[in-house]
Amino acid sequence: MIVVDDAPIGIFDSGVGGLTVARAISQLLPRESLLYIGDTARSPYGPKPIADVRRYSLEILDTLVEQGVKMLVIACNTASAAVLRDARERYDVPVVEVIGPAVRTALATTRNSRIGVIGTTGTIGSGAYQDMLEVNPNVTVFAQACPRFVDFVEAGVTGSPEVLQVAEHYLEPLRHAGVDTLVLGCTHYPFLEGAISYVMGEGVSLVSSDTETAKDVYRQLVSRDLLAGPDAVAQHVYEATGSSADDFIQLAHRLMGREVRQVQLVQTGTIDLPRTTAL
Ligand code: DGL
Repeated sequence: MIVVDDAPIGIFDSGVGGLTVARAISQLLPRESLLYIGDTARSPYGPKPIADVRRYSLEILDTLVEQGVKMLVIACNTASAAVLRDARERYDVPVVEVIGPAVRTALATTRNSRIGVIGTTGTIGSGAYQDMLEVNPNVTVFAQACPRFVDFVEAGVTGSPEVLQVAEHYLEPLRHAGVDTLVLGCTHYPFLEGAISYVMGEGVSLVSSDTETAKDVYRQLVSRDLLAGPDAVAQHVYEATGSSADDFIQLAHRLMGREVRQVQLVQTGTIDLPRTTAL
């Protein structure tokens, strides 16, 4: 018997960055319905204390589960770093995050075992990438926070000379270190791939969490018999926690065409978590 499940896949990011993951998932799995939440009320996550990001992330994930999703995708590296340890225990539905898939691809890609990682201050400060990559003792990791990159993307600015100038500044230590593989450890960064790739040069492979995560989603759906049925018609629903649906729609159009047509505003419940939990 073939089991099918037409419930949506729940995807979340602090803002628009997770749309890169949603796009990659719908390219691999066009029959799947998606329910996306951007936590625009509290974005950006990158500069915030990781304990706060953990609380926000679990609130959003709870909201997605209450809306009946069959799988959770944490399409934000900062949130993944914050809840990596407890999201899988908290929910009955499978949880896919963005760090593990990118790490596996980076390890399979590098030829000289020198891997660069760029991300938000929160992601780089958490050490999540460094810990996972350095499980391979031959690997040397060079990590660099690039906080202004998210500001550019959230402002819809991806191709300006200023982006290139800032990219040159952030990426110089990684070029100098001779990395041959660079992990884009933030779901906003694929929008800046032109500048990043130009600065790093052709010999450096860029590993992006969007496409790697989509493959993980595919694997999990198949192995757990959760694929949508052959007659399923995909519906993509977008929600945001902020006060303006129009702002989200306009930015989404600017960054990735007209896929996002309508955004509903949602409120999340508040959950009580010990703020001192070691992460
Ligand atoms: N998209 C988020 C990530 O992947 C970062 C954006 C933010 O700072 O909120 O880390």
